[in-house]
Amino acid sequence: MDKIVILDYGSQYNEILLRKIRENGVYSLLLPKGTTKEEIEDLHHVKGIILSGGPDVIDQSQQKEVFDERLLELNIPILGICYGMEALANRFGAKIESIRDREYDKHVIRVNKNCPLFLDVPEEIVAYMTKNDRVSGGLEGFTQIAESGSSGMVGFAKDYVFGLLFHPEVAATDYGDVMIRNFVNLCDCEGNWDLDAFIENKIKGIKKVVGDERVILGLSGGVDSAVAALLFHRAIGDNLTCVFVETGLHRYNEYNVILGRFEKNFDIKVNVCDEGELFLSRLKGIVDPEKKRQVISKTFIEVFKKEAEKLGHFKFLGQGTLYTDIRESKWGGKSKVIRGLPEDIGFEIIEPLKQLTKEEVRIVGRKLGLDEEIINRQPFPFPGLAIRIIGEVTLVKLEILREANEILSNEIRKAGLNREIYQYFCVLTNIDSVGVEQNEKIYYHTVAIRAVTSQDGINADFYHFDIDFLDRVATRIVNEVRGVNRVVYDITRKPPSTIEYQ
Ligand code: XMP
Repeated sequence: MDKIVILDYGSQYNEILLRKIRENGVYSLLLPKGTTKEEIEDLHHVKGIILSGGPDVIDQSQQKEVFDERLLELNIPILGICYGMEALANRFGAKIESIRDREYDKHVIRVNKNCPLFLDVPEEIVAYMTKNDRVSGGLEGFTQIAESGSSGMVGFAKDYVFGLLFHPEVAATDYGDVMIRNFVNLCDCEGNWDLDAFIENKIKGIKKVVGDERVILGLSGGVDSAVAALLFHRAIGDNLTCVFVETGLHRYNEYNVILGRFEKNFDIKVNVCDEGELFLSRLKGIVDPEKKRQVISKTFIEVFKKEAEKLGHFKFLGQGTLYTDIRESKWGGKSKVIRGLPEDIGFEIIEPLKQLTKEEVRIVGRKLGLDEEIINRQPFPFPGLAIRIIGEVTLVKLEILREANEILSNEIRKAGLNREIYQYFCVLTNIDSVGVEQNEKIYYHTVAIRAVTSQDGINADFYHFDIDFLDRVATRIVNEVRGVNRVVYDITRKPPSTIEYQ
């Protein structure tokens, strides 16, 4: 399959870029920045390369190669965006002035209509860029293809090499989608990335690999495992066995929703393994979040394995791993327990969704008939409510948190805000503060509300609620949830804070 590779220099917009290329029907993938010419050749059918943006600055005093310059020998289109543009400019002798902690904003730029990258783009547009970076000199044989009043040259091209000092993949850049489509066309790819074909191919592939064997799959309540289950079910029917482990750490009514949907709508039986008490007893006395994660993960594996033994012989384990999960672990990013089950669990693992982004999984889910309630579920961490209770996890605290969270969720749904907010939840802080009840001073818990907008969970902004809305939620929580007398709203962005508290 023809593909366009994005070399990842750490831009927060890389997943958007990946998605936008795929929306043009061309498969794209993110690879680490150090990827060599040979590695690109081994992938076969790479028809274009993008050097992404990123937070670094080019250090011209060190003369260090920031990309394998032999990539230029591949004679395929190469596009550098922001940091990537500066890397190319540096290679071709330009002087780069850039600063760390740049501020990005919208700026008016003028583009050269003769450049194929700007086909169907008006001459004057608004682009999302920093006005502090400057590229000048060098670049012999290159043409300036875009300029801005404050930064001078913001785009250059020569043959199949292009550089842009702004982000075409960000919605704030006018006609950015058109520029991406033009680049994809320049790469001359056969556009055969299509999710209907993906579904058909995966079903065929699963049938072939699994044969008459059986597959076990853990449903988590989230969209990824649900979509994976539907794909397996289409391929192998009752040779798929689904298990839902009730850890006691799920949100209110989680397993009824999952069970109801799967059994009623798809006739897929879900085996429920109710081990809430076991998880709680293992978590007793533990306050360290990483310890909580370890204990939950270990217990989950133990319970899942035992359940699998009870249900018969399984050669395969189905997992709803996504492209992002793989990238995070390969890039050495998070130490988080993402899926719960390790690779050496004793089954052969099949991960049919591992090429897909979250957005694509949702589309595949819709195509397979999954209902919107599951498709639009918010991301929920594998360790569940245990990492939303600061300090020791107890049954009473879990109940308090579930109730408070359910009030928040109901109010958000009632106000029609659930599609606007990426993730929203309550946290039971470890702060007990004084309040007054029947003229007596009494110490009760403080609940923090977290609600963020985000594209991908990597960066996030707090949601700017109307104050009356917050008033309503806080009043309901303190009135209806016994044990809570204070509610606070968290107004920090990620970074520097994170979405979860632990
Ligand atoms: P942070 O807190 O790092 O979260 O801003 C980013 C996204 O990851 C989710 N998250 C987790 N997911 N296991 C998971 O499966 C974990 O341990 C974990 N910690 C955070 C979080 O909910 C958000 O969507």
